[in-house]
Formats: sequence, structure tokens, C-alpha cells
Amino acid sequence: MQRRRLGADGPEISALGFGLMSLSSTYGPSEDEESLRAIHRALDCGIDFLDTAEIYGGGHNERLLSEVLKERRDEVVLATKFGLQLADGRLQANGRPDNVRRAIDGSLERLGVDHVDLYTLHRKDPDVPIEETVGTMGDLVRAGKVRQVGLSAIAPDTLRRAQTEHPIAAVQSEYSLFTRTPEEGVLDACEELGVTFVAYSPLGRGMLTGAIRSGDDLAEQDLRRSTPRFQGESLEENVALVERVCEIAAEKGVEPGQLALAWLLHRRGFIVPLFGTRKPERVASNAEAASVSLQADEMARIEAAVPPGAVRGAALPDFMECLNEG
Ligand SMILES: NC(=O)c1ccc[n+]([C@@H]2O[C@H](COP(=O)([O-])OP(=O)(O)OC[C@H]3O[C@@H](n4cnc5c(N)ncnc54)[C@H](OP(=O)(O)O)[C@@H]3O)[C@@H](O)[C@H]2O)c1
Repeated sequence: MQRRRLGADGPEISALGFGLMSLSSTYGPSEDEESLRAIHRALDCGIDFLDTAEIYGGGHNERLLSEVLKERRDEVVLATKFGLQLADGRLQANGRPDNVRRAIDGSLERLGVDHVDLYTLHRKDPDVPIEETVGTMGDLVRAGKVRQVGLSAIAPDTLRRAQTEHPIAAVQSEYSLFTRTPEEGVLDACEELGVTFVAYSPLGRGMLTGAIRSGDDLAEQDLRRSTPRFQGESLEENVALVERVCEIAAEKGVEPGQLALAWLLHRRGFIVPLFGTRKPERVASNAEAASVSLQADEMARIEAAVPPGAVRGAALPDFMECLNEG
């Protein structure tokens, strides 16, 4: 497995990360025993960067991961997030200092560890200056509860302001052939500041694997059913784009999802794609993307297959999208 540095002076981590969100039934039902096998499989494949969050499954996700950490804490670069809360069916950001201090203690307890390696603000709170939130996150580093600090879905200006308060190791935002927003400024800011870019939903929330052809492929309680990109005519047009990715992948003798992950790895040397799956065998096949080599003409062909702006519909339902800065 290729390695990439976490922040300017942090540890090396696997070039691909494994995100645990869907192990708490985000995209259809998950089953804990199989989920635990998937996490172990990631470590066995050399993927040591594992990402969870306070909000995933209302604590279920961190507790699930604690089962693996009991045996394998030393093998894991452990990342969790805080600052998003569900209230009255709506997502709210909370970056107040008292919430920063409350949240880390809850995560450490659920994870069964004395520190996390990367602590990320899930969404910036529009009512709290970023300096105030990140300053308090810096206090957690000084207290030994956290090794490094990260931000998620933020604008370049927010990153620059935060960096004056405490070094930011990583920015985590949605980035894939299907979501190109980070190319509008955040990637450049990360490169300039020595910040690692963690590309979440790198498989376009499953679309880029070619496994989703119609709404019927999504379970009843799947979050994607309420997402414009996965509905009606938009879905049909997006599936047609994926067909082109599948053709290129078939010619190269790789899976479409592997091609999508390899494309991200080749974009810039500080990008860490963070994929998710509930299935151990898919963890293993996705991990192989780190060995797929792409030449410049192949990169150009992949980009021409899904040009920026070609994908129809938002990646998130409105009530979630509104908190994204970037
Ligand atoms: N910071 C944030 O706000 C934020 C937001 C979203 C996600 N994230 C992080 O990013 C991680 C990944 O996000 P994601 O789960 O949306 O990413 P993704 O990797 O783009 O999509 C996951 C979907 O792809 C499917 N899949 C994965 N590998 C496959 C394969 N080889 N063949 C067929 N289907 C495959 C999975 O289905 P199966 O389970 O059926 O395999 C799942 O439905 C999350 O776990 C979380 O850590 C962060």
C-alpha cells in the first residue's frame, strides 16, 4: 500500500483510507459482524487510516470500532469527527468551545482509547468564529487527547484563518469524478499550506462502481433515495456517465471503482481517498486501486468521460447540503 503524510509533519498513513459511516446503516442496513470483518480486512490490506464520527449511528459507529481497537489500536491511525448534531430532524453545526470539550470525552469513552490521532470539525458552525473552535481543538492537543486537528467541508478562507490559530493537518471534503468542488480552491490552499486532503465519498457514494443502475438498487431506508443525484432523470443521465467509466475500466482490466480511486490518487500527491463499504471482499478489491497506474493520456480520457459540471443533481439532500462551505 502506498503511503502519504498526514499534515506537514504528522505520521505516514495509507494512501487509501477506510470510512466507517455506512457501517451504521446510512446506505441501507448493515450487520455488525460483517462490519467488524470489513474493518479487520482493511487493516490486513495495509489500510491503517480509519475514519468515524460522533454522529454516525448516534455513537454506534465509534462503539463498533472500539471492538477492533481493543486488539489492534497500535495498527490504526484513528480519526473521528464532531460538531454535527441532529435536532428535530435537521442537521445543526455546533462549534462552541463547550461542545468541543464535551464531544471529545464522549468519543474517547466510546472508542475506548486515551487519544485520537486526528480530530476533525465535521462542519463549521456559522455562528462561531473558526478561530474559537480551532483554538479549543488546539487545547485538546495540548491536553494529550488529540494528536492532530482537521476540518471538513470548509472554504479556503476558513482554512487559512484556522491555520493561524492551530496547525491543520487535514481537510476532509467530498471529491470524486462526480463531485469536483475542491478543484475550485480548497485543493490549492491545502497544497500551499502542507495540509493533507482527505477525499470523502470518492466512489460518488457508490455510483462510480457501476453497481447502481436505478433507484430500485437502493434499500428502502437508504439516505441516497432522498438525494437529487440518485433520483429520476438525473439518475438516468448520471448512470450513462458511469457507463463511460465502466468502458475505460474494462479496457484496462480493472473495476470501475478501482479506476475512480486511482484517478484521485493520481490527481495530486497529498490526496487520500476515503472510501466506504460494508463488505470485506470489497474492502480488499478497493485497496488494490493503490496499485493501479495511470498514464497522462488515461487520466485525460477518464476526465473527458465525466467532465466537470456533467453530473446532474446535488450530492446531498437540501437539509444536509446547506452546511457545506466547500
Ligand atoms: N466529512 C463528511 O461530512 C463526510 C460525509 C460523507 C462521508 N464521509 C466519510 O467518507 C467515507 C466514505 O463515504 P461513502 O461511504 O459515501 O463513500 P463511497 O466510497 O463513495 O461510497 C460508498 C458506497 O459504495 C459502495 N461500494 C464501495 N465499494 C464498492 C465496490 N467495490 N463495488 C460495489 N459497490 C461498492 C458501498 O456499498 P456496499 O456497502 O454495499 O459495498 C457504498 O454504498 C465515510 O465512511 C465517512 O468516513 C465524510
